[in-house]
This record gives sequence, C-alpha cells and structure tokens, in this order.
Amino acid sequence: MHAQLQVVILAAGKSSRFNTAKTKLAHTICGLEMVVYPVKLAAQFTSEIAVVVGYQQELIQETLSKYSYPVTYCPQTVQAGTGHALRCTQHTWTKEHILVMNGDMPLVSEDMINQLFEAHTTTNAAMSFVTSYCDEPNNQYGRVVDSNGKIAIIETKNLLQHGYTQDITRINAGIYLFKRDFLESALAQLTHDSLTQEIYITDLAAYAGQHNLTVTTVSAPFDTIRGVNTLKELWTVEHIKRSELINHFMTQGVRFEAAQHVILDHDVSIGADTHIGAGVILRAGTHIGRHCYIDAFSALENTILGDGVTIHSHSHLADSRVADGAQVGPFARVHRNSVIAQEGVIGNFVEISKSTVGQQSKIKHLSYIGQANVGNQVNIGAGTITCNYNGVTKHATEIKDNAFIGSNSCLIAPVTIGTGSFVAAGSTITQSIGDEAFAIARERQITKEHYAPLLKQKYRAAKKIERVTT
Ligand code: UD1
Ligand code: CA
Repeated sequence: MHAQLQVVILAAGKSSRFNTAKTKLAHTICGLEMVVYPVKLAAQFTSEIAVVVGYQQELIQETLSKYSYPVTYCPQTVQAGTGHALRCTQHTWTKEHILVMNGDMPLVSEDMINQLFEAHTTTNAAMSFVTSYCDEPNNQYGRVVDSNGKIAIIETKNLLQHGYTQDITRINAGIYLFKRDFLESALAQLTHDSLTQEIYITDLAAYAGQHNLTVTTVSAPFDTIRGVNTLKELWTVEHIKRSELINHFMTQGVRFEAAQHVILDHDVSIGADTHIGAGVILRAGTHIGRHCYIDAFSALENTILGDGVTIHSHSHLADSRVADGAQVGPFARVHRNSVIAQEGVIGNFVEISKSTVGQQSKIKHLSYIGQANVGNQVNIGAGTITCNYNGVTKHATEIKDNAFIGSNSCLIAPVTIGTGSFVAAGSTITQSIGDEAFAIARERQITKEHYAPLLKQKYRAAKKIERVTT
C-alpha cells in the first residue's frame, strides 16, 4: 500500500481491432477477465481505484462486480481518447500521486509499479512512465523520442507528420505516474490531435518537458508490458501468463509431462510430486494435493483433490472434491458438488452427479449415480443406474455401508438400500430394503435341458420355408 497513491484504469475504449461482439476487456486470460488484471494489481497499492467506462460499460461493471475490489466507475460518454478518459476521473483525485494504466495490459507486475513509484519520487518527477523496446515491424505502440533534448511520445499514426519512421524501437508501455498538481494544470491544456481528433494522455510527456518539469522513465522487458489489441495478441499474452504459472509449479516440484499442451488458469494450486499429463486442463478453483497423478486429457474445474489421488485419462471433474488415495477414470465424469471419499474408486464410463461416495467404495464400470448418498465400502456393479428423475420430480437414493449392488440394477428413487444388504444383478428395485437383506427383482429363469439343438433345427426349418416362398 502507498498512502499517497491512487489508481486510474482506462477501460472505456471500443476494442475495434478485436472484431468480437464482446469488448476485449471482458475476454478471459487464464480464466480471468482482462480488465480484472489491472484492478487486482491496483488493489495491492490502494483502495482508491477509478475505472473509466464507456463502451459496453454494463458488461465491464458486471464483470468487475463478481470480485470485491473497491472501484469507482467514471463514465466517459464519448471515446475521445486516453487523455480525455483521464479527464473524466478528475473529481476522484485526492492523493498526491496518480497512477494511470491502460486496461489492456495484463502482464504488469507489482514489482514494476514499485520501481516506477521509486524512480518517480526519488527524481521528484512531474510525470514518470514505463518504456520498453519492441522491434516488431509496423507495431502500433507510441514511440518514445528525443525532441530537442526533451522526451516525447509520438503515436504511430502521427510519426510521419513529425518526421519520424516506424523504425524507432523504444516504445511507451501505457503505465504513467503523475503528480496530481501537474495533472491538474496540464490535463486541461491538451488539445485534440489534428489527425485523429483524439486527446492523447501521451502528449503530457512533451507538455511537461516544455514547462521544464522532470519526466522520468523506467524500462521494462517487452514481455511484461505487452498490450492486447487483437485476438492474436491475447493468445500471445495468455501463453506468457500460462508459462509463468507452469514455471512456478515446476519450481515447486510438479512434473509436467508435456507442459506445452497443458491449459492452466489463475487460482489453481498443485502440490509437490504431482504428475500432470499431456493435454490436461486445470480451470480456476482447482486445488490438487501432493503425489497425485492426473493423466492425459483430463479436465478439472473448481475441484479439490487430496493427496495421492489418481485421475486416469479423459476424465472430467467439476465443482467436486476427491479425497486422499481415491481413483477416478478413465472416461469418468464427477460433477455438481459430488464428493469421493478416501480411497474411493470411480471407474470407466461412470457418471457421479450431486452424490457422495464413501470411503473405499467402488463403482468401477458404466454406472450413473445421481443424487445419491453412497456409504463406505459399498460395491456397485457394472451398469447400475440410480433412476432419480421421473420426468417431473427428482428423488434421492441412499445406499448404506457395505451394501453390494449387483450389475445392471436400476434403483428407482426414492429408495434406501440398507447396511450390508445385497441386490441381485439385473434387479429393478422400487422398494427400500432393510439392513443385511437380499433383494432380487427380476423374472425367474427357465432352463430346458437338451433343448438347444431342437431350437436350432426349428429355426433352420423356418428359414428354408422363407426362402421357398420368397
Ligand atoms: C496506447 C498509447 C500508446 C501506447 C499503448 C501501449 C495513447 C494515445 N496511446 O495506445 O502510446 O504505446 O497504449 O499499449 O494513449 N481508452 C479509453 N477511452 C478512450 C480511448 C481508450 O478509456 O477514449 C482506454 C482503452 O479501453 C484501453 C486504453 O485506454 O484500455 C488504451 O487505449 P488503446 O486504444 O488500446 O490505445 P493504444 O492504441 O494501444
Ligand atoms: Ca492498447
């Protein structure tokens, strides 16, 4: 926190280079909307954050309202440029220094802001800003130039007009720190650019120079300040962000079998000695313990795994919890607030929805367990279905400890299977069963000794008649 600092975030622009229906600032980068990044960063320094909104203002506000940052919205009714956007926040200024950030640069770190603040205050500058170097041909960044011994920022569109070319590699990052006094006098003096009719925040650098005020710059690596104006730039920035996250976990003892094929969001944690396979997707809110094995092409969303959990390949887990030593998959789905207790086993082609599965219980093949409470050490055979929906209402199933459900059984809810009881394979259970009971609910078998050859003869004869008649 800096007592004498407040932050302004510029988020009213049109994002015309994105060509999407939704403003670029509401698109996610590693699971977090772009506009949240600068706000989250600002909140580390101050509780006074002004966000300039205009284009798709409702969407920006709705996005930020999901997080509880202290934000004041300042409307900019016409998008007349970054300098004009800053003017829209003037009534919120109370602190000595005002940090201004573009809303579209999600890679900026706390360290960089600290460096800028340090340089700004020690040089007693009126304005300080972050610069970088970009040698991409025809890049659209404002260029930092020396104009008669004074520093100035020239926008790409205006380079020719001022006798410069695009070859200049020193660029303006889009993070500025101003003394409030300076802003109060200078901002009103900015004029519309003759070419674009916009008011540029960047013109403040030359203005300070002309008034013999100090302008300080801090240089930062390009990969930490990249702006996002196109979907291609979003892809690049997300790739960098994701690499940082993966790199962090690698240093913490997490093994990535094919890091380049892993998708990993913010708000994910992974314990040491865990193995992450190829193509694994870990979405926000996922927390994985130590010594886990997440095999190829599994996706986890908002899911918590204990220690020593194995998720076999191609499994999908969402909004659920899996305790120590449990196993899930391959091709399993565990979702909607389900819980798999310690050493539970959920096998291939099994769906667990809104259910709890107790310790060491096994549901190993082709089952649907929905809205059920399964006790400890229960064994559920292949093809078991909890029928929880009659087309109108939904009902729960209770399967108590040590029960055994034979394969291909239907349990028509609401129904309770008592402790230690046994359901014969192929049963359709419509009534609850008490503890230690045996239930069989299917047609009795009829066996006719030596009848098979006779039956075949009968079929062959029928086939011959059919041939003759057709
Ligand atoms: C801006 C800088 C450029 C710098 C680059 C760094 C200006 C004039 N140019 O260019 O020197 O190199 O950032 O990424 O500032 N916005 C508003 N209201 C407006 C216009 C923009 O709030 O009227 C907001 C946008 O939502 C965005 C930010 O300001 O978050 C920057 O606008 P953008 O159009 O992206 O500027 P660049 O062309 O990238
Ligand atoms: Ca930009």
